[in-house]
Amino acid sequence: MPALRDGQMKLGPRSVPALRGSVEVPGDKSVSHRALILGALASGRSTVGGINLGEDVRATARMLGQLGAPCIFDLDNHEVQVEGPGWAGLHEPEELLDAGNSGTSMRLLLAVCSGIDGASVLTGDASLRRRPMLRVVAPLRQMGARIDGRRYGDRAPLVVRGGDLVGLDYESTVASAQVKTAVLLAGLRASGSTSVREPASSRDHTERMLAAAGVAVERDGLTVGVTGGAQIRPMHWIVPGDVSAAMFFVVAALVLPESDLTIGSVGLNPTRIAALEVLRRMGARIEVEAAGEVSGEPTGNLRVRHSDLTGTEVVPEEIPALIDEIPALAIAATQARGTTVIRGATELRVKESDRVSALAGGLTALGADVDELDDGLVIRGPTPLAGGAVESHGDHRIAMAFAVAGLAAGERVTVRDWSCVETSFPGFIDVLDGVRKPS
Ligand code: S3P
Repeated sequence: MPALRDGQMKLGPRSVPALRGSVEVPGDKSVSHRALILGALASGRSTVGGINLGEDVRATARMLGQLGAPCIFDLDNHEVQVEGPGWAGLHEPEELLDAGNSGTSMRLLLAVCSGIDGASVLTGDASLRRRPMLRVVAPLRQMGARIDGRRYGDRAPLVVRGGDLVGLDYESTVASAQVKTAVLLAGLRASGSTSVREPASSRDHTERMLAAAGVAVERDGLTVGVTGGAQIRPMHWIVPGDVSAAMFFVVAALVLPESDLTIGSVGLNPTRIAALEVLRRMGARIEVEAAGEVSGEPTGNLRVRHSDLTGTEVVPEEIPALIDEIPALAIAATQARGTTVIRGATELRVKESDRVSALAGGLTALGADVDELDDGLVIRGPTPLAGGAVESHGDHRIAMAFAVAGLAAGERVTVRDWSCVETSFPGFIDVLDGVRKPS
């Protein structure tokens, strides 16, 4: 049983455990944020079932409440009711809007606040205040929002004075679903039509969910467009399991001998699952056991068995569809035969932490053979992982990746500042304990 003391999580080994049986992971974080926001912008009551109860999604709920859309949580049933006043019914908040650690909350709510007649001030924790915001602020300014903040509006705290917006055809230089979503949401509140063109396609939950809620969404290759004034219907959303959370269990089952694990009802949106393809290329035995669709998102059960992995090259074109899975993939790479190269991942440096440097530093401390590149990592394996203490850098995905490393290690691994896991995966250790079987 791992022990949590002084904010540190100590993992493995008595003997290296296998993962066997079945688990469910929390609801998809991206879909959860969007369901709450679309619920607030619709007029009437929406419900969100299977919602992710991590701190990021709660930050979005809290901020929407301050803007006039109360989100009432039924924690036992993982369900939320959103009382949507519609965009015209939202009002300027009396207090600061605090997005905590959540980039998605801040970037998407910047768009919402741009469409509210009034002033809003958005801030976040130290990590979020270091992250770039101009990518969203610049197009919103072009649409008519007045936004200012630190570094000329590139860093929170940010002040938004919203009001009338005009449509925009925007060419984004980053493949970012947050940028795309912010512009599309503002476009719904703007006069005329709005489109976003991305350099590569990012996750498309917004497009799917807007269409499900009755909005005409035009998709043409890498361009997506909406028309101002389109109404969002209140909905009963069902959130699929988060494939990014599932990936830590996938990798753990792959690297721990004798594992045979099923992960139930996982969202399998094609724009999110490149990591599964990469792992299969590495020799992973992963089967999609069943498939259905909820809220416009394909879902299925993943059966994962311990596998002998070989290194691979992850090319820049693959990055947008596996950006959040690189921490988990890096752990798999340490146990794969040969060299794994990950390139084109500079975005990873501006996530909740600089994940390239966090992974290189932590894995090296555990005895892995890792080179840090400007835009990625080179990992040579297989290397037995040793014990030691590693920093999460307050980043939930780094913490969970090192927890998986700790399971595979021959000695105890301590993950410092473990509580950040609450951001996306409350109860991670309990879920893990439910399927850990001594081998
Ligand atoms: C997200 C988009 C991605 C992802 C983040 C969630 C979203 O960020 O890394 O965890 O819900 O839209 P970018 O859009 O900045 O790439």
